[in-house]
Amino acid sequence: MNKPVAASLIAITLLGGGCATSETTPAEPTLETVSVATAVTTAKIVSPSQNLEVALTTDSGTLAWEAKWRGETIVQPSALGLVFKTGRDFNRDLVIASTAQSNKDEVWEQPWGERQFVRDHHNEILVDLAFTDGSPAFSIRLRVFDDGLGFRYEVPDTGPRQITDELTEFRVDEKAQSWWIPAAGWNRYEELYETTPLSEVHRAHTPITLELPDSGPFLSIHEAALVDYAGMWLNQGRPGALEADLAPWSDGTKVKVDGAFVTPWRTVQVSDTAAGLANSDLILNLNEPNALGDVSWAKPSKYIGIWWCMHIQECTWGSGEKHGATTSRTRDYIDFAAKHGFDGVLVEGWNYGWDGDWFSNGEIFSFTQAYEDFDLEGLAAYAAEQDVYLIGHHETSGAITNYEEQMEDAYALYERLGIPAIKTGYVADGGEISRRDDDGKTYKEWHDGQYAVNHHLRALKLAAKYKIAINAHEPIKDTGLRRTYPNAFSREGARGQEYNAWGVPPNDPAHTTILPFTRMLSGPMDFTPGIFDLSFGKPVMEDPRVQTTLAKQLALYVLLHSPIQMAADLPRNYEARPDAFEFIKQVPVDWSESIMLDGYPGDFAVMARKDRNSQAWFLGAVTDEEARTIQVDLSFLDSFAYEAQIYRDGEGADWRTNPYPLEIDFQSVGKESTLTLELAAGGGVAIAFIPPE
Ligand code: NOJ
Ligand code: CA
Repeated sequence: MNKPVAASLIAITLLGGGCATSETTPAEPTLETVSVATAVTTAKIVSPSQNLEVALTTDSGTLAWEAKWRGETIVQPSALGLVFKTGRDFNRDLVIASTAQSNKDEVWEQPWGERQFVRDHHNEILVDLAFTDGSPAFSIRLRVFDDGLGFRYEVPDTGPRQITDELTEFRVDEKAQSWWIPAAGWNRYEELYETTPLSEVHRAHTPITLELPDSGPFLSIHEAALVDYAGMWLNQGRPGALEADLAPWSDGTKVKVDGAFVTPWRTVQVSDTAAGLANSDLILNLNEPNALGDVSWAKPSKYIGIWWCMHIQECTWGSGEKHGATTSRTRDYIDFAAKHGFDGVLVEGWNYGWDGDWFSNGEIFSFTQAYEDFDLEGLAAYAAEQDVYLIGHHETSGAITNYEEQMEDAYALYERLGIPAIKTGYVADGGEISRRDDDGKTYKEWHDGQYAVNHHLRALKLAAKYKIAINAHEPIKDTGLRRTYPNAFSREGARGQEYNAWGVPPNDPAHTTILPFTRMLSGPMDFTPGIFDLSFGKPVMEDPRVQTTLAKQLALYVLLHSPIQMAADLPRNYEARPDAFEFIKQVPVDWSESIMLDGYPGDFAVMARKDRNSQAWFLGAVTDEEARTIQVDLSFLDSFAYEAQIYRDGEGADWRTNPYPLEIDFQSVGKESTLTLELAAGGGVAIAFIPPE
């Protein structure tokens, strides 16, 4: 839906000092030689409500961008450009050859997700750049929304080339408070967040969240639609200058292109509040629509799994006496799933390759051959009889070539057995993904380099052919591709529950108050909440353990969205707490609306979501190590008299000394009500708002 653009949308300064306002400019990118005499040096565009303004400039032939929020500079003039191994670089002698504007205001529907209907409302400018000698260079497509901006490079065909550097910068006040994790390290994205002034950031992953000084707006810098390109790290050069630093190939180049290409969108989400960032749909809006057609087979689901028992070392992935993936244990899990209404049962360690040090077994994993004590076919049939399915597991230990050689057979097998989702895994240190080349040699690549990026998309497309959804661990970060490929269900890509079992160190009580304002801005996460035995049979004060109250485990089901959501603990621990388990059984995994009501990274978060399949609303609130009282205005509810079923920290609850007290209160509420929620230290609250039948 392209509408004519208001004349005020773009102001163009003519070379030679003249000033003009342009209403319409040619829509087609201009790739033939242009007359530089008519070139302009600034192109500006504002968001629909005019709160955000972005300008591109070509002073002295170098390209830069800057952004203002409510008239105040939030991104200072920042470089743009690409440098290639061969041929002409896009870093100097540039002029604006032409501009074209358009806008959009449309609503599109998600097959599943955090909300059903998403509004895409933005103004766009396409800026064609040429060299001063008149030869064409490339274009920048820039979209400005009321909640942020995105731009990408669009480059015409100049044959096979290698990008050695992307010059994009984000220059922000170095005093900004930042929530970030280091990039280019061995632990991929699985770090505890750092909370520091921007000046202390060295090399960071995206999304990175910033709060500008003096209660300035919050920014989240990230990327959207990462396709056939390298993932972007941010390296701080001069203080405050975050420079794009693309994850390199093993040969040192950054991106290999052949023909015309577009880069991922470079994005900045902007909001006056931290909660506002979490309510933005900008990343999805910058992705292409569903390319898979009917995806009704990609069904959101709740699952249990033979999983936690390996992490707390009660059983093993490898074969032998303690083998977790046995036929009899899996039957028990299927029975438990059927009894309590779970859709799926994940089984890890079912396939050949786990014996010995499985971290190093990447080249020997089989993805089709089960261990002898695991009757794959029989169990798939047994599950189907009970209206449950198995969830597949493919741990690659980062050996992508070995996986790709078997991928199609493995997906076909799973489809035949009615297995609709696979958890994949790429456990290998950062920079240690194995790529076996045609020459038989093995090369080591990054988890977020172009090779891995392309592998993940190949896996998604092939899985779609077999009607299978993917939940990737040690993945490439989420950049919103689930819009285009809705079988991209969920992923890890952050520090999940498993660290609480290993205790290296466990996730501190603030961790899940930071995730909603950082990692979760990129998309769903398979955090695997729901641990009820918080210290795994040991006294509660002994490490390692989960550093939350029981109520906070429940709150995570609402707070941390995933269309495939796990009840991670052992069945016996759920049987011991039927009161708390009731909430996990009840909580939906697919939503028609989601609203982050309040929060601040590192302190607390309050999320409300409406069930996609009923009129019920749910709320999850968590706090860090501080006890906290939160007032919640319930005006988000619809016009019903609801029964609020409140699962809250009980008398004396404290994550460290006394995590288990749980009170379940029932209260009549409506949209005019306000709830006062008392959260214990390291605690939380989970609420189901049930409308009348
Ligand atoms: C790491 C994953 O995050 C975890 O969930 C899984 O159990 C192991 N790898 C084994 O694949
Ligand atoms: Ca992991």
